Amino acid sequence: MRALAPTDVHDVRVIDGDVPAAVGGLLEHLLAQRIAQATVLEPVFARDLADRVARFTLSGGKRIRSQFVWWALRACGGGIRDAESALRIGAALELIQTCALVHDDVMDGSRLRRGELALHADVEAQYADAIPPPQGTRFGEAAAILAGDLALAWADDVLADTEFTADTGRRVRGLWSSMRMEMVAGQYMDIQGQTTSSRSQARAIRAACLKSALYSVERPLALGGALAGADAATTATLCAAGRCVGIAFQLRDDLQDVFGTAQRTGKHSGGDIRLGKPTYLVAVAQARAEAEGDRRALAVLRHSLGRTDLSESGLARVREVLVLTGARERVEAKIDRLIALGIRHLDTAALQPDGRRRLRELLHSTAAPTPSGSSGVEEDVVPESRLLTAGSERAPR
Ligand code: IPE
Ligand code: IPE
Ligand code: MG
Ligand code: MG
Ligand code: MG
Repeated sequence: MRALAPTDVHDVRVIDGDVPAAVGGLLEHLLAQRIAQATVLEPVFARDLADRVARFTLSGGKRIRSQFVWWALRACGGGIRDAESALRIGAALELIQTCALVHDDVMDGSRLRRGELALHADVEAQYADAIPPPQGTRFGEAAAILAGDLALAWADDVLADTEFTADTGRRVRGLWSSMRMEMVAGQYMDIQGQTTSSRSQARAIRAACLKSALYSVERPLALGGALAGADAATTATLCAAGRCVGIAFQLRDDLQDVFGTAQRTGKHSGGDIRLGKPTYLVAVAQARAEAEGDRRALAVLRHSLGRTDLSESGLARVREVLVLTGARERVEAKIDRLIALGIRHLDTAALQPDGRRRLRELLHSTAAPTPSGSSGVEEDVVPESRLLTAGSERAPR
């Protein structure tokens, strides 16, 4: 992937050709400035935290959020005039993603992210000789809280330093502000539902929407539309499409947590079951088992969900229950329906043909069974040796 210098922004076709590279290039430029400031401020902070935040953000994942901003802008008729602002919003969203993932891995006790040690586990490893567990673990988590805060502050700075016309600025800032709060609310619903063992399907969809669909798909589409000056009807249609596919995106992620492999996703699997996450998948299995009076399935769920020491064979039994109750199939079918509905919404909006085509492809691939982009690691496959050094999922204390 070629790094795009901010000066290349004069040619919209270069960005059309590789949006992740364009956003990556801008991030390199923005983050180099932050690292320089951090180094002057305090070298230890720069080395341990600022540099980790920059490297994590630059390593990137699939960069779906910035692609949604860009292609919504293009589909709504925007072009070179708004290119720099769109890339800056994309860069800010990637920093929000860094904050979300770094904090999420602390909350979920996940030690592997994008095929590498999660940030908190990496800091713990750096200081392992000096600070052994449990203090070292606590220290790694405290450092990751600060790293996530830093990423969020940088994201806000990037947005604040972006030039907009007065009207667009109002719209963009309103969307940004809603999005940040929605994501925090969703993450809270997730951990609160975990603690209270919620098995409500409606609540699971609501949490998936708040914690994931909005900041991953719907709001990025709305931000791109706002930059292009899209009218209310077009914006509403883009948002409806984004909501459907965004929920499908989280439902796919939940399926992959149970049935996927770390080699493919760059994350350990089984964590949602061991933590007792209130996913739609589990809520459907519970409801189906109750409706069928399937006592064995109910017992497996009761004894396994939230058991942090669940063995691999115990996890296999849960997978079997999710298949036999028909829950897996139902979630797959719901994902398909949500994508089809999202595309139908998209097709009713008045959009530029090429932008619409690119958005349609993106919406399709976002919740596809195997990630079509890279998981942030070479060829989508994490070497076995790296997975072993990262250890397995650990429950938060
Ligand atoms: C992961 O998001 C977190 C969720 C909202 C499910 P992505 O799958 O977009 O992660 P990266 O940025 O590509 O690593
Ligand atoms: C994460 O949901 C949502 C956010 C990061 C806001 P998950 O906890 O399911 O994401 P992964 O599976 O760890 O990427
Ligand atoms: Mg997680
Ligand atoms: Mg989580
Ligand atoms: Mg997940």
